[in-house]
Amino acid sequence: MEKYVIEGGVPLYGEVEIQSAKNAVLPLLAAAVLTEGRVVIHKCPRITDVLNMVQILEELGFATSFLGGDLTIDGAAAANHEIPSALAKELRSSVFMLGSVIARFGRARIAYPGGCDIGLRPIDLHLSGLRRLGVQINEEGGYIDCVCSRLTGAEIVLDCPSVGATENIMLAAVRAEGETLIRNAAREPEIADLANFLNRMGARVYGAGTPTVRIEGVPSLRGVEYTPIPDRIEAGTFLIASAMCGGELVLKNADAENLTSLIHKLCEISCKIHADNGKIEIQSRGRVSPKLVETSPYPGFPTDLQAQMMALACICRGSTVVVENLFETRFKHVPELIRMGADITVRGRSAFIRGVPSLKGADVFAGDLRGGAALTLAAISAEGQSSVSDLSHIDRGYSAFEFKLRALGARIRRVRI
Ligand code: UD1
Repeated sequence: MEKYVIEGGVPLYGEVEIQSAKNAVLPLLAAAVLTEGRVVIHKCPRITDVLNMVQILEELGFATSFLGGDLTIDGAAAANHEIPSALAKELRSSVFMLGSVIARFGRARIAYPGGCDIGLRPIDLHLSGLRRLGVQINEEGGYIDCVCSRLTGAEIVLDCPSVGATENIMLAAVRAEGETLIRNAAREPEIADLANFLNRMGARVYGAGTPTVRIEGVPSLRGVEYTPIPDRIEAGTFLIASAMCGGELVLKNADAENLTSLIHKLCEISCKIHADNGKIEIQSRGRVSPKLVETSPYPGFPTDLQAQMMALACICRGSTVVVENLFETRFKHVPELIRMGADITVRGRSAFIRGVPSLKGADVFAGDLRGGAALTLAAISAEGQSSVSDLSHIDRGYSAFEFKLRALGARIRRVRI
């Protein structure tokens, strides 16, 4: 196990390059299954979730190589349809493989997926969507077995705009016979990115990024070279870091259009932000509380920035209410922030925060990916020394996190326990 040891209380200055979006890359890796051609993903982040997906591809018979930031996947010899349970349990995104493995091989077998423990994360919408396309699904002994002789387009209405279900259905529907309509689809930018990628492979996907996605199935797809969109959650994490620590940051390879709800909040609490041409500049000056932060599907405030925003609210002047609407137990960072001197009370899905002038260093534990990022920011802004463990959570989604923070002036190092 590893931990960060952090000496807090230093403002952050300088430039930071934002990685490609984790949540865009993961479904693209599943999409690579759909072709026998070569897929190259440029600027692919070396995070554990990506490395685990690459391992799944290898188990399926794909040849992969990771050179510099370029990940190459060659599917000519792929023939397996079973995703080993040890890997499926490592990450939730293994479930995306269902749609594309069925579309390519006519069958798929996968153990129930793992991922961040942030409450119940059902996959009923993924499975009912695939059933509508003609897939027969048998759930038994912790495994999902799927068979399909022919995928057929259908109209699918999602009960809620699930990101993963929208993507999984798209991945199967691109190879189905006829037209598929996904209604109440999720609108996250990563869905539009997946559609762009699939269309570059020869698919016909229309309306991605809107509540109705229309897909005309095609018989085959070709290889592609592609650079995914920037990671809005990593960008948001650095913007919040700046608001907490003070100083001036420039984010390169960052898309402000996909971060409007956060940028609006940060301006409200008196940060100065300028965005232009793939760059976002932030100056933080004083902090008044953001009053209300309520997570909701895109374009609302992202649940993946809730923990970081709560860490910021802890040191703002005034009170803030944070409401988590997407996941049930996404407040694991709260007791840890309280150990650092934060004043937080949780009632159901709401956290009530009374700002304190500063947090104090402490030894804290990350229970999930974004909670871990929030505690790291809290420690960097706090007075005195902290440690944040276990880093395996943070490594799932942030590449070179401590190197990037250190280059901005933070005093942070990784230590093996
Ligand atoms: C994706 C993101 C994750 C983000 C989340 C919400 C990836 C790899 N992960 O996760 O970082 O936090 O979107 O923005 O892109 N639901 C059901 N049944 C289903 C599927 C989902 O009830 O079959 C519910 C979930 O319990 C949850 C809500 O829908 O309450 C949103 O989940 P979903 O959008 O599916 O999130 P993920 O795709 O898992």
